[in-house]
Amino acid sequence: MSVIHVKDRDGSEHTLEARPGLKIMEIIRDAGLPIEAACGGSCACATCHVYVAPGWIARLDPQDDMEVDLLDLADAVTETSRLSCQIEFDETLDGLKVELAPE
Ligand code: FES
Repeated sequence: MSVIHVKDRDGSEHTLEARPGLKIMEIIRDAGLPIEAACGGSCACATCHVYVAPGWIARLDPQDDMEVDLLDLADAVTETSRLSCQIEFDETLDGLKVELAPE
């Protein structure tokens, strides 16, 4: 079983089962954690903003132009910010660590 590790806004850590083909946002949302994902994954809202653990950021596919533009408009952006609906889980991401950004 593959997993991702998600730190909630209250500091609690959750280990979630992750299936290839799902977006990271979908894994977090389907586990019932508080990620708004208002646009449903269309790269149009930035409410699926997460911080990727530093050791993992270089292992992700690069951001496309839409994600870069949307993150430019988001609050509390850091060098490890990503939109979790734009990251598709595969086996190479087993153990990925992310943290929910502030709402
Ligand atoms: S869910 Fe809206 S940008 Fe990711």
